Amino acid sequence: MIDIHSHILYGCDDGAKTIEESLELLKAEKRQGVDLVYFTPHFHTEKNNLEEYSLLIKEHYNNLLLKTNTPEYPKIKTGFEVHYFSGIKNCDCLDKLALSGTKLVLTELDFFNITENVIEEICEFSWYTGYTPVLAHIERYHKFPGFKKLLKEIKKNKVYCQITAASFLNKNIFKKEAFKLLKEGYVNFIASDTHSLEKRPPKIKEAFEEISKKCGKDIINNILEFEKSINF
Ligand SMILES: [Fe+2]
Repeated sequence: MIDIHSHILYGCDDGAKTIEESLELLKAEKRQGVDLVYFTPHFHTEKNNLEEYSLLIKEHYNNLLLKTNTPEYPKIKTGFEVHYFSGIKNCDCLDKLALSGTKLVLTELDFFNITENVIEEICEFSWYTGYTPVLAHIERYHKFPGFKKLLKEIKKNKVYCQITAASFLNKNIFKKEAFKLLKEGYVNFIASDTHSLEKRPPKIKEAFEEISKKCGKDIINNILEFEKSINF
């Protein structure tokens, strides 16, 4: 299994604070059956200088690489959770923003700003750039204006969607919407969006078990097959 969305890389955003915390979280991921974890720190064009931020990420990533070369840890790679910005489809740094080794750009939308223009740009994104947006935690947008239109347009274009594993569990406020989107075929990836052991810990295994129980195993197999089709 691959986790394409996490804030496990220490000292970069609101996720893990220390290298020790990163190591604990990576061990927890491996115990969940995750073989490869992408570190996806938040990236905001107006807040982060990509060059400086990338240097910090590289330094912390290299420190973790040295400590995780044993079977109790998953493999690790870097990427970003890119906060949508107008002009993203013309940006010349998509190779740096994409999940390492792929043509996928994990993209977070502004809840209050899912406008016609945003939807149009997201849908045109892959045609213009060859990179495919993966919309982060789409279940969280469902009550905001523009969501229904967004879903309608996604179906017609090359846009992938990710749901947070914990949204399928317990009394999560997004549970109903997460299952609805899954059954309607919108979900390409289930990822942890791990921030810490307390805030959104890795729950992919539990989510897969809950989904299997409620919807059968085929839906999980389809997601894993799709994962294999991407050259991570
Ligand atoms: Fe995130």
